Amino acid sequence: MTVVIDGKKLAQDIRVEIKAGVDKFRSERKRDIGLAVVLVGDNPASQVYVRNKIKACEEVGIKSYSEYLPANCAQNSLASVVKRLATDKNIDGILVQLPLPEHLDAEKILKLIPTEKDVDGFSEENTGKLSRGEDCLVACTPNGIMKILERYGVETCGKKAVVVGRSDIVGKPMAMLLINADATVTVCHSKTADLKGECLRADILVAAVGKTKFITADMVKEGATVIDVGMNRNENGKLCGDVDFENVKDKCSYITPVPGGVGPMTITMLMYNTLQAALRR
Ligand code: GUN
Repeated sequence: MTVVIDGKKLAQDIRVEIKAGVDKFRSERKRDIGLAVVLVGDNPASQVYVRNKIKACEEVGIKSYSEYLPANCAQNSLASVVKRLATDKNIDGILVQLPLPEHLDAEKILKLIPTEKDVDGFSEENTGKLSRGEDCLVACTPNGIMKILERYGVETCGKKAVVVGRSDIVGKPMAMLLINADATVTVCHSKTADLKGECLRADILVAAVGKTKFITADMVKEGATVIDVGMNRNENGKLCGDVDFENVKDKCSYITPVPGGVGPMTITMLMYNTLQAALRR
């Protein structure tokens, strides 16, 4: 019997726990926890993400500070906003929504976020610590996936995990987390020689490719756990993942749907990271 993972329900459960942590913080430290969200331009997907992040803050009692800048804003205008937030005592976490417009240097902007406020877990120090298995702020999507595996009792120790996709935001940190959880990890990408063969060996298969129905039933081992990070739109504009869900699901022990799988967990982990950042300050 396949278990379809209910990411929405799990995210709600964890948000209740985070809210309790946020309330305790407020009563002990006599201040609110603050998250600054910076959005440049009018990318419709980014606008939706930012709106959902602000909504999640309200839900758990974190104070959100939004900074909206026009698409044509200059590098130094954005830099001065981030620098101001970096020294603002009311701000525990800073998130600059990506992608930034082409003319802006995202790397340079992200470097202005102090490590301790890097709730995206993108900084060199946080990614370095993650690769050493040290305590740090971890990128939200892979961290949310680890929470899913943990809460659903999916064993990672000694298991073969295959991550398809090598992005800095998902694929690489996902691989590190799985290694730290004692899995044997393979990372596949567009140049992988035998993608199907690699996927077929996976006890845990994480798809983070960005292509609809990229993972088909013939690539999945019987009884595998399949985690779908894809957020694609099909020809009708409907949100769908990287996995051919209908045909894959009956082969799996566990599978995440899209929507309602990994997505709700990502924003929840942003709230989790913001609470962690506040507690550490
Ligand atoms: N754009 C898409 N995903 C993310 C994310 O996790 N963090 C930020 N800052 N921007 C994104």
